[in-house]
Amino acid sequence: MDKNVMQETDVFSLIGDRWMLVAATDKNGKTNAMTASWGGMGVLWGKKVAFVFIRPQRYTKRFVDEAQRFSLSFFDDSYKKMLGYMGRVSGRDEDKIAKSGLTPTLKNGAPVFKEASMTLICRKLYRQTLEKDCFIETGEIDKWYPSSDFHDMYVAEIEEKI
Ligand SMILES: Cc1cc2nc3c(=O)[nH]c(=O)nc-3n(C[C@H](O)[C@H](O)[C@H](O)COP(=O)(O)O)c2cc1C
Repeated sequence: MDKNVMQETDVFSLIGDRWMLVAATDKNGKTNAMTASWGGMGVLWGKKVAFVFIRPQRYTKRFVDEAQRFSLSFFDDSYKKMLGYMGRVSGRDEDKIAKSGLTPTLKNGAPVFKEASMTLICRKLYRQTLEKDCFIETGEIDKWYPSSDFHDMYVAEIEEKI
């Protein structure tokens, strides 16, 4: 398993091509996760941060909103089919964690999957819904938001890399 996935790939391929799981655990200890290929990592407010974009209809959003922390999990290529499943089916309809075959544990209240090659524990710092009036390139609105389901952007401090 490529434990050093971070060193071996740039963040564009890590997130955009290889995809990641955004996962969080609610107050009752229930975990949900969804595949994401939009987001990034960088530096903000003097901290190493990750940012993710979650549409309002995602079941995972409720978990991310309830929890102080979420995790970003990266997997080697053999898990691509699982990531496809986690990005196609909603946790509202199926117990995705059970069906995925993933083994979750908790670290500081955030899910860690044993099978992941890298996990980032992220503490939420900021959330904002993208606004129509703020788009400079308005073509992106027609392309991505015909239903006006604008993403919420979350900026979170990367507290730990496992
Ligand atoms: C490759 C891929 C990337 C995705 N990226 C995102 C994303 O960045 N943000 C988002 O809101 N949904 C994204 N999705 C869609 C969710 O993963 C999908 O709707 C999922 O079923 C939501 O599950 P949930 O309802 O259990 O949260 C992506 C799906 C796939 C297949």
